[in-house]
Amino acid sequence: MNTASDTAMQPTTMPAEGSTAVPPPPLKVAVLASGRGSNLQALLDARRDGRLAIDLVLVASDKTEAPALRRAEEAGIPTLALSPKGFPDRASFDAGLFARVAGYAPDLIVLAGYMRVIDGAALDAWSGRIINIHPSLLPKYRGLHTHRRALAAGDALHGASVHFVTAELDGGPLIAQAEIEVHPGDTEDSLAERLLHREHRLLVACVQLLAARRLALGTHGACLDGLPLGAPLRLEGDRLAGVGPG
Ligand code: GRF
Repeated sequence: MNTASDTAMQPTTMPAEGSTAVPPPPLKVAVLASGRGSNLQALLDARRDGRLAIDLVLVASDKTEAPALRRAEEAGIPTLALSPKGFPDRASFDAGLFARVAGYAPDLIVLAGYMRVIDGAALDAWSGRIINIHPSLLPKYRGLHTHRRALAAGDALHGASVHFVTAELDGGPLIAQAEIEVHPGDTEDSLAERLLHREHRLLVACVQLLAARRLALGTHGACLDGLPLGAPLRLEGDRLAGVGPG
C-alpha cells in the first residue's frame, strides 16, 4: 500500500476538529509557456480573484515574442525569455533553462502550452514538482494535433489531462481529466475552442490542490491526501469530483 511517506511532496497534516487551520504558505509557482498563454491567464485570474493561493515567481518562455510573456508583464510577474537558438542542442538548452528557473526557487513548475520536448536530465530535480496540461484524454493522443486525431478516430468524447511530467512525452502519472462531447459537425477549431474553457478550469483546480499540499507524486502515481488515486480525478463543473474540502 502506498502511504503519505511515499510521496515527493508531503500533504499537510489535517488539523484536529475544532482547531484553527493554519493555511500553508503560498506555493511558489513558475509557468513555462510558448504561445498565447490562456492557461496562464486562467491562473492569473484565479489568483487575482482569491481562488488560488499561489505566488507566481516566474513566467518563462522559449519564444521571445510569446503573448504569454506580455500577460505576465501586465500582471507584474517576472519573465524570462530564452531562445534555444543560442544553444548547441536540446540537452544544453534545457539545462540552461531549468537552471535559470531554479534560480527563482519555485515549489512547482507548470507547463501551460509549453511546446517543447524536455530533456530527461533537466527534469530529474523536479520529479513530483512539475505538471503539464495536454489537450487529450491521455493516454490517447500524446504529442501534437490531438483535436484532429480525435475527430479522425470518430471519438464521441474528447478532453484534456493534467499530469506529472516525466521524461516520457505526455506520459507521466495522470492527475485529472476534463471531458467534452464531440458534436456532429465539430471541426478542429470548434473542438479546441470548446475544450480550452474546460482546460482553464481543470488547470486551476489541479493547482489549487497542489497549493493546498494535498496532491503529490508517490511511487505508484499521483496521491491525494496521501492515498494513491485509483483513476484520474474528473472535472465536473468547476470542481474535481469526489474531492472534499480537505
Ligand atoms: C492548450 O491547448 C494546452 O493544453 C496545450 O497547448 C495549448 C496552449 O494554450 N498544451 P494556451 O497558450 O494556454 O492558450
